[in-house]
Amino acid sequence: MLEASGLFKRFGALQATRGVSLKLETGARHAIIGPNGAGKTTLFNLLAGEVKPDAGQILLDGRDVTHASPDARARTGLGRSFQRNNLFETESVALNLALADIAHHGAGWHVWRRLSADRAARARAEDVAERVGLADALARPVASLSYGARRQLEVALALIGEPKVLLLDEPTAGMSPEETGRMLSLIDGLPTDLAVLIVEHDMDLVFSHATRITVLNYGEVLFEGSPDEVRASTLVQDTYLGRDSGTC
Ligand SMILES: Nc1ncnc2c1ncn2[C@@H]1O[C@H](COP(=O)(O)OP(=O)(O)O)[C@@H](O)[C@H]1O
Ligand SMILES: [Mg+2]
Repeated sequence: MLEASGLFKRFGALQATRGVSLKLETGARHAIIGPNGAGKTTLFNLLAGEVKPDAGQILLDGRDVTHASPDARARTGLGRSFQRNNLFETESVALNLALADIAHHGAGWHVWRRLSADRAARARAEDVAERVGLADALARPVASLSYGARRQLEVALALIGEPKVLLLDEPTAGMSPEETGRMLSLIDGLPTDLAVLIVEHDMDLVFSHATRITVLNYGEVLFEGSPDEVRASTLVQDTYLGRDSGTC
């Protein structure tokens, strides 16, 4: 579903990504771990198209998207959850989701289609809200949401286009234990045919949710394997997991 090979990215003197390759099958639950500055977010930016690689190739659902814009990748099936500063804060969760749906489908701008498009958009908005646990918050203005609920909404927005691959960058960062619990059940409930790539510092979450783990270090893949293989790797233990209790 997603295949990156030999990605390189340099920022000035800093080689942030050094030949990273990664492959996600349909329905994958794949985690990326590694210390701060290892290049995890840069890898996400490369995959999402916000940063252009100096070398390497990215295939999404069999198509070469190495030079495609973030929007083109989204239309090809890539969803990414990120902090949004462009939400309509005083409008409802439902309206924000419906507008995102209309924007994604490119419909609704023609007056004659608007009513039916809006209805379909509303229905899809409600469906997505339900899936991320925001069904009760549909009528609430975005500005009134808690931090955790806002991050749930960001995942909902990423799901609007029915992506085949979903990128989640530290979905539980800054959350209370209760909010983390809600995010975990959200992740548990994602469609089984959706490939999920997650950057996460919470090792309990990583080892309980991922079936495959890539360990990055200094922009390089240090190790890739199943949770058991990562746990058993002395290389990973020595360079990362063994360092402390597993912060990133
Ligand atoms: N746009 C940028 N310009 C310059 N340096 C950057 C940029 N983005 C990331 N970096 C640098 O690349 C390295 C990897 O960063 P990042 O991918 O954010 O790591 P991680 O997410 O693993 O903590 C860091 O040293 C960071 O400072
Ligand atoms: Mg990061």
